[in-house]
Amino acid sequence: MWYFSSPFLVFGEDALDYLDQLKMDKVFIVTDKIMRELGFVEKVEKKLKDIPHQIFDEVEPDPSIETVLKGAQLCQAFEPDFIIGLGGGSVMDTGKGIWFLYEKPDQQIDSLNPFTYYEDFPSKARYITIPTTSGTGADVTWAIVLTDTAQKRKITPASRQIIASIAIIDPIFAMKMPPALTAGTGLDALTHSIEGYLSMWRNDFSDAFSIKAIEFVFKYLPRAYRNGEDKEAREKMHNAASMAGLAFGNSQATCAHSIGHSIGALFHKPHGNCVGMALPYVMEFVRNNGTGTVQKLADIGRRALLLTGTDEEVSEQLILKVRELIKEIEAPSTIPELGISKKEFEDHLPTLVKYTSEDSCISMTNPMPNDDQIEKMYHYMWEGKRVDF
Ligand SMILES: [Fe+2]
Repeated sequence: MWYFSSPFLVFGEDALDYLDQLKMDKVFIVTDKIMRELGFVEKVEKKLKDIPHQIFDEVEPDPSIETVLKGAQLCQAFEPDFIIGLGGGSVMDTGKGIWFLYEKPDQQIDSLNPFTYYEDFPSKARYITIPTTSGTGADVTWAIVLTDTAQKRKITPASRQIIASIAIIDPIFAMKMPPALTAGTGLDALTHSIEGYLSMWRNDFSDAFSIKAIEFVFKYLPRAYRNGEDKEAREKMHNAASMAGLAFGNSQATCAHSIGHSIGALFHKPHGNCVGMALPYVMEFVRNNGTGTVQKLADIGRRALLLTGTDEEVSEQLILKVRELIKEIEAPSTIPELGISKKEFEDHLPTLVKYTSEDSCISMTNPMPNDDQIEKMYHYMWEGKRVDF
């Protein structure tokens, strides 16, 4: 038995107007300071008119468990019937955690898991996500990436029940992203869609979303990067990000995410840059070692990029296209380009390998690399060498 989970999606220009159609009594808004500065919080407040609302704007990049607990306490006291997560992945994930603890105050956030069914959830509020970057897919996925500050590592509580009730995918919120953020988050979307297609849990439904998202990223990301005012490119990238979210949210990410999570936890580099850097190396590794992966990569190349040739040729061309795209949008393609020194890298290499091998996404990789292969991949990512093992 397979499932496909998705919020109710509202997308396109003026999607935010959908808020007019909802009967809301009290709204709790989860966001951050940047959203206030950009005027986005005000935009949402205008829509709420005189509906009572409270704003929690303390979400930080790489949000901690403590932030979720603090937000949940305020939410309990306010008793809203709607919660809105307005921002990037950190904000929307924090919102999921706050929603869960508001509904289930007797639960712990780190014990939230996909194998438990939470009775009467949700019963107090509905959760609306409004993404302001085009990449994380957190508006449509059901995991929460949090930082355990004491342990200095990421935890990912997850449950299909915490998928947002409604996602409002309005491109107006993506228009102000600076080029580097456009590039990084766009590569996150590309990694979600390619890894979703290569994942051991890929399925007919996730494949459909993967292919369309990959097509859109190749077509529109360079345009959105070069000209942030390009409305069509912004809208298509915003849709691509959510489609990629639906793809990997219903299949799973693989080793590039395990590597990205590990580098992110130790060096606090942007998630999209880390996974995007790792993506072509992981594609090369699975192409060389996986069962049926040459054909899968060729499938992507033919369907999303209309490449032609034998499976061997098309899979190779696809990897080269990914490498070219990363260069074109001036994103990091090696570990030094992420701004990590040789000493930092060498000092942390054993921990990087350990974290990568313990990350939940690694088990979805076809095939799962062993510790020696992971370490070797890190060396290749340091040197910028194509994976030949
Ligand atoms: Fe990601």
